[in-house]
Amino acid sequence: MGELPRHIAVIMDGNGRWAKKRLLPRNAGHREGLKRMISLSEHAFGRGIEYVTLFALSTENLARPQEELGALFALFRKYFTENLERLKAKGIRLKVIGDERLLPGDIWALARSGEEETAGGKSGMLVLAIGYGGRQDILAAVNAAVRGGKEVTGEEFSALLSTGGIPFPDLLIRTGKEKRLSNFLLYECAYTELYFSDKMFPAFTNADLDRALESYAKRDRRYGKI
Ligand code: IPE
Ligand code: IPE
Ligand code: MG
Repeated sequence: MGELPRHIAVIMDGNGRWAKKRLLPRNAGHREGLKRMISLSEHAFGRGIEYVTLFALSTENLARPQEELGALFALFRKYFTENLERLKAKGIRLKVIGDERLLPGDIWALARSGEEETAGGKSGMLVLAIGYGGRQDILAAVNAAVRGGKEVTGEEFSALLSTGGIPFPDLLIRTGKEKRLSNFLLYECAYTELYFSDKMFPAFTNADLDRALESYAKRDRRYGKI
């Protein structure tokens, strides 16, 4: 086994289709997705990965029917209340990114208190992206830079993104068959290795993650050099 990525990002897509295939409501797919997300992230940290960034809701997803959004919000609340002890026990720090204006305030209150409660974690960081859009995040950073009144370096610009201080992802995994970024981490993924799986997220197992890591280990990251 070659090198392990320090930071993996996952576009957790396919919950709805997973449920549909089983004649279940879409929300059942999201519930199953949350379970998978917890197990998968713990597996990743167990393997020695330091940062796991998970795309759970995009800015564009906020145009979905209220019923589905309500179910997703309920799952976020559940995650932020029921999962903190597990994170703390494993020394994992939680960070939540996304546009605070787009989701109910109580979700952000729970997210921020989860961040505070896990702030002492030294073994890894779990970054959950909710109400997040890459373009919007870049634009917010540009505007912050403009307000600063002087040109910024690449390093200073990265620090203004909501992922500021976190190394760029080494490997991005997208489940659910589609081969696109759907507005995730657009600046951060400039040199990230991409891995696409046809499996729907609830069916993407820890062994599937191991396969993605094996694929990553065989890649030659040239960064434009020869
Ligand atoms: C889950 O997958 C990720 C979210 C956007 C909440 P989807 O809900 O997009 O599932 P599909 O793509 O419809 O199967
Ligand atoms: C991407 O999935 C966003 C998340 C997984 C949170 P979508 O289902 O929203 O992506 P599109 O609409 O197929 O591009
Ligand atoms: Mg989808």
